[in-house]
Amino acid sequence: MSVLTRRHLLSRAALSARAVPATRLSAASATSTAPAATGTGTAPGGGDTDAESDSAPGRRTSPEDRLGLRFPEGFGWGAATSAYQIEGAAKDDGRGESVWDTFSHTPGRVRGGDTGDVAADHYHRYLGDLDLMQELGLRTYRFSISWPRIQADGTGAPNQRGLDFYRRLVDGLHQRGISPMATLFHWDLPQSLQDVGGWESRDVAYRFADYAEAVFTGLGDAVPVWLTINEPKTVVQNGYLGGHHAPGLRDPAAAYLVAHHLQLAHGLAVQALRATGSSSRIGPALNLHPCYPADDSPEAAAATRLYDGYENRLYLDSIFKGAYPTDVLEDLGPDSRMVRAIRDGDLSIISTPVDLLAVHYYTPIYVTATGGTVRKWPTSEASWQQIFPQGMYDILTRVTRDYGSIPLTITENGLATPDVLAADGSVDDPARIVFLRDHLAAVHRAISEGVPLESYHVWSLMDNFEWNEGYEQRWGLIYIDYPTQRRILKRSAHWYRRVIAENAI
Ligand code: FCB
Repeated sequence: MSVLTRRHLLSRAALSARAVPATRLSAASATSTAPAATGTGTAPGGGDTDAESDSAPGRRTSPEDRLGLRFPEGFGWGAATSAYQIEGAAKDDGRGESVWDTFSHTPGRVRGGDTGDVAADHYHRYLGDLDLMQELGLRTYRFSISWPRIQADGTGAPNQRGLDFYRRLVDGLHQRGISPMATLFHWDLPQSLQDVGGWESRDVAYRFADYAEAVFTGLGDAVPVWLTINEPKTVVQNGYLGGHHAPGLRDPAAAYLVAHHLQLAHGLAVQALRATGSSSRIGPALNLHPCYPADDSPEAAAATRLYDGYENRLYLDSIFKGAYPTDVLEDLGPDSRMVRAIRDGDLSIISTPVDLLAVHYYTPIYVTATGGTVRKWPTSEASWQQIFPQGMYDILTRVTRDYGSIPLTITENGLATPDVLAADGSVDDPARIVFLRDHLAAVHRAISEGVPLESYHVWSLMDNFEWNEGYEQRWGLIYIDYPTQRRILKRSAHWYRRVIAENAI
């Protein structure tokens, strides 16, 4: 990898960690985030409409105002979570330890020393949570299966008690008319596998395929849609470049070796599902970042192209084109650990045909002539997130243009806000409503131009353990009062319920 690229990827990863944002969207300034010039063309009021009122008489608006955009019949309205972020019950029913248990229990790694030991206690409260999903009217729920609940040490016979939990969850979803969508891996690698090299070890990709097969056999066709690996890029960038996610390494050479093994694991899991004869569908879950040049120079355009290779094409091309992008391979260099690790046949495993692509969209990236990045839009409570709804449209249409009309689902999109539980028991989060509304307007526009998008999942159903940020960042539609574990529907949850009921924003 070129020194330049490595330096900038490292600085981006560091950005994601804890940097204080230049501009932050506060709850009080819950204005429309759709920029007038590049916006969706459907959000009213451009970028300067106050959330609750407007000084011009007769122009009162509120985040709940309807845009009059109807979604296709049967559109899949959903919400998403992941195991370590909500389940808690870290030692129940034979669960083993994951890299996130180790990481969060290491002093200094997670803000405030928070861990996922209890989280939202969903493992014990899942029945009540299912009822809340039904109350919202969700049609699809995307969650993840904890590998160390199924195989405490990452290998061997599956733990029936772990499988039973997910069977109860899946049955409860079906009983409420909600379609389950299960991710096999949302970062909680069994610690025992990390101890033998983690994703740097090729063998771990094969362990993953065994685990996947055990889950497919245990839960069978009750899960109609499987997602393989959640955001391999985040493991690479945050776990192995920035080091602020588990396993907490800063090792660029290892990072891209890990990328290859994660891609290989994805392909092997797809093959494992096919081998069971299942009729369920399967695909990857990728967080895609539209990359734009920060200025008009040819240098910025070239740097953006390479940046896009690392952010998007490395993952998309290998799965959908059966080849890693040559510019990225050249940048990494023939002697890199990744390039040396690619064996004959690997790319055909990685590109085993999938049924759908799950897209996560949170933020754009603006790349400078020297390969650095700059911010152009306000950020959320998460300093890495610039609020730019147009990016949703751009990434969806780009995927369809460059990779064909593979069915798409959005499995993550959402906003961190500084929510507080008011004395009257309510949680007022207008900024989340505006964010979701403006992004859904962009989604609507993409669909109306032919993007084959089936469903949309808000990140997140409920507040949860936001990795190295602990419990401070709140991303949920449902507020969790952690001391009491009480669940409170935020204003955005009430709004979303109406959106689902009306199939429109
Ligand atoms: C995504 C993760 C998810 C959550 C959101 C905010 O990258 O997949 O677990 O942390 O970001």
